[in-house]
Amino acid sequence: MSYPYQIKSLEAYQEAWKKSIDAPADFWSEIANHFVWKKPWQNILDWEFKTPAIKWFEGAQLNITENCIDRHLKDKANQPAIIWEPNNPNDAHRLITYADLYELVNQFAHVLQNNGIKKGDRVCIYMGMIPELAVAVLACARIGAIHSVIFGGFSAQSIADRLQDAQAEFVITCDGAFRGPKDIPLKNVIDDALVTCPFVKRVIVYMHTKTPVSMLKGRDVWWQEEVEKIEDKHFPAACMEAEDPLFILYTSGSTGKPKGVVHSCAGYMVYTNYTFVNVFQYQPEEIFFCTADIGWITGHSYILYGPLSAGATSLMFEGIPTFPDAGRFWDIIDKYKVNILYTAPTAIRSLMAFGLGPLQNKDLGSLRVIGTVGEPINEEAWHWYDEHIGKKNCPIVDTWWQTETGGVMISNLAGITPAKPSFATLPMPGVEPLLVDEKGNEIKENNVTGNLCIRSAWPSTIRTTYGDHERCRTNYFATYDNLYFTGDGAYRDENGFYRITGRVDDVLNVSGHRIGTAEVENAINMHAGVIESAVVGYPHDVKGQGIYAYVIYNGLHGEEELIRKDIAATVTRVIGPIAKPDKIQLVSGLPKTRSGKIMRRILRKIAEGELENLGDTSTLLDSAVVDEIKNGKI
Ligand code: WTA
Repeated sequence: MSYPYQIKSLEAYQEAWKKSIDAPADFWSEIANHFVWKKPWQNILDWEFKTPAIKWFEGAQLNITENCIDRHLKDKANQPAIIWEPNNPNDAHRLITYADLYELVNQFAHVLQNNGIKKGDRVCIYMGMIPELAVAVLACARIGAIHSVIFGGFSAQSIADRLQDAQAEFVITCDGAFRGPKDIPLKNVIDDALVTCPFVKRVIVYMHTKTPVSMLKGRDVWWQEEVEKIEDKHFPAACMEAEDPLFILYTSGSTGKPKGVVHSCAGYMVYTNYTFVNVFQYQPEEIFFCTADIGWITGHSYILYGPLSAGATSLMFEGIPTFPDAGRFWDIIDKYKVNILYTAPTAIRSLMAFGLGPLQNKDLGSLRVIGTVGEPINEEAWHWYDEHIGKKNCPIVDTWWQTETGGVMISNLAGITPAKPSFATLPMPGVEPLLVDEKGNEIKENNVTGNLCIRSAWPSTIRTTYGDHERCRTNYFATYDNLYFTGDGAYRDENGFYRITGRVDDVLNVSGHRIGTAEVENAINMHAGVIESAVVGYPHDVKGQGIYAYVIYNGLHGEEELIRKDIAATVTRVIGPIAKPDKIQLVSGLPKTRSGKIMRRILRKIAEGELENLGDTSTLLDSAVVDEIKNGKI
């Protein structure tokens, strides 16, 4: 067996989980021994959740790219590390072997160094889903620079906010990105963002779509020209301390500004590898297809670091599931004989809506395991996935986790531990979940709902929020004493299986993307005509949740429809298309308590269509406003 720590039975899982909690140092040292370290650790773990201070593998030195690339050269040099499927199925695909990846990453590490990038510098990466994105990320890790990938759908304003927060002086981008029928001009967006970021010294631009771009003298250079200057195909991997930051990834919280979640080198590497090997029960030479974008944590952990550290073949897809038609995922699976598919419930629901037509003449016989991530999967979607994609022959893994957790926290192990539709089921070894009530008291019984917390540190626990440790404490570790609070609610059944019910804070999950209501409100409020706004979620058939905005507008002259469009366009400009409200209701007031707090509970009920059952409204300042909103519901 090639992964000695791969769990092979339910009993072995139970034993592993128990050992991981009773003797975490022994448990994790056995696993960590299978990695390449430049210097061994002195202390496996040392943590407390008060401040918080979390350290894993202290004293060890390593470079994650030696584990993801170099160590596979001995026996997997010619095995594809990355298979790349382009947006347009008629264009050539690319097979990048581990030997190729080594060369590309090492060359580009030289490019980074030649351009003044050093260990510890923050590098923002804003690219489409092309192999060079993987190369850019890994080359940063090779030289010890901290990468911060920004999803290609974010606006110039969002990029500028992130660049400023991370004080990133370097940007890597493309001229443009293909997504379905669109050609998105990424470099133009970067140019707009950099107007407010004069501290950015260098922009490296990969030519991909051949869209015309303007290059700023002294600041912008072409990737391809820089690589041509490099003769040395080796770059000595930087010696990183276990707790040195590996990357920053911004994610939405319940307050206005996205937070820069920081993960460190050693713990993140060990945990993403361990969960990849165990959750999917990966077997050597299998083709693993994660449909996420590398701009999100799922892409970081399960397109790049998890699979590559395990010497797997990871399939990277540039396009979207519905281009050129809704059979695209199935074509890709057949073309490359994909064995493991990992996607999001929203993708499953949107493809379900096309019926079975796009599945005709598709074989899908290579699939062995299928998985989901990012949001609760409803039973209907679960059964459709099981029946029509897995052909009732593939275990479904429903993996619950977060940007902050780095890797999968609660999931069944494919074919090893039981699955249950719409349940993430049991914790991974190393993970100690519990439910608490509003007051923070642990709920010990089963068949209960509560707020989901984690009791002890796991290797890829969030270390800090970049530049603001206090924010990390108040967001995750201050709600309940000595617990990590996930922001999610969960139900636990009679067998101790967890079902995630959704966010209990002011964070929406729209098509698997996390969006803070406060963030959307801030964007809406930037529109000159807007006086105040309140944003809530409502159930949406395909997206899981839709965005419902109540907006007080200054004098309702002009056409309502145009005003709505204009407000939606403002949000797209400020955040990006993913945050565009699905519904905008113009109102003359918002329901507030006497102390001036917006009663979101009421707005949520109205958005959900539960007009009869608004709950206690006795603390309302002005109840006439509620009637008006109810009557005006769109
Ligand atoms: C939600 C994505 C139900 C949850 C990896 C969490 C899920 C948020 C599941 C994190 C699941 C993720 N079932 N809900 N299997 N997986 N979520 O940071 O609300 O983009 O808090 O990380 O997605 O989203 P994030």
